Amino acid sequence: MATETMIDLIGEQKWLDPLEDSVQEAVKDAFAAAGPSGGEIKDFLHGKWLGHALHPALTDIPVGAWTGAMAFDVMDMVGSGRELRAGADALVGIGLLGAVGSALTGTADWADSYGRARKIGVVHGVLNVAATALYATSFFLRRNRRSRSTGVALSMMGYALASASAYLGGHLVLGEQMGVDHTATADAGQPEKFTAVMLESDLEERKLTRVDAGGVAVLLVRLDGQIQAIANTCTHMGGPLNEGKLIGDHAVECPWHCSRFSLRDGSVIDGPATFPEPQFEVRVRKGHIEVRAAKK
Ligand code: FES
Repeated sequence: MATETMIDLIGEQKWLDPLEDSVQEAVKDAFAAAGPSGGEIKDFLHGKWLGHALHPALTDIPVGAWTGAMAFDVMDMVGSGRELRAGADALVGIGLLGAVGSALTGTADWADSYGRARKIGVVHGVLNVAATALYATSFFLRRNRRSRSTGVALSMMGYALASASAYLGGHLVLGEQMGVDHTATADAGQPEKFTAVMLESDLEERKLTRVDAGGVAVLLVRLDGQIQAIANTCTHMGGPLNEGKLIGDHAVECPWHCSRFSLRDGSVIDGPATFPEPQFEVRVRKGHIEVRAAKK
């Protein structure tokens, strides 16, 4: 399909790499410069407080508002009405406010992307900036009767760009798996009955250990004799938690983008992850460690 060819073409633009590297570094430096609050702001923008990615929820505001504005503009052209014009103008303004929130949350998410998704994210962002600039200009031109028709024309151009960008945004989630819970599909295969995964005597104290429980990768850690178990696949982008670091006496840090999860209950301590890790119940029977999915 033409759209898939276009997305493949974007993913092949290697010349964008240095630019992406420097912008990504600049974004990370900006958060780091704010100290601990920078990390908290970044986590807020990812949606850690919501337990869900925030960006996709906010993008509905500009897309919805600008679609409504377009409908009112078209109705105004056909039937002309002051209320229709006022409604369209208000929706353009609401969309602009939503675009600011979408840009901030999207930039925070993009800072932890890589490869093809990072490239598609760049084009997605550039299209959004261009669409927002057109809508912002339109917002002011609409106030004057003489320049109103130009303002409406600009917003229609902005709508075309925003629609193309929304398509890429949808692909980033559905095609590149950004912002989704990477353990969601494994949930179905989690053992409901206790399943033996390894000999208890083989589990070393404080060693992040990956085991297989009925096809699901589980992370085991023995801390002060207590065995903790959460999913081994990072919910953010699927990083292998057993290759990460044990932090203090209750957390694991993902090796890919440094999200931290509590080993006690799988909750997110630090983003960019927003979804918690699935937790497993553990017991020892006849010298074997057994796990099963924790009841939710
Ligand atoms: S894969 Fe990104 S933090 Fe784990």
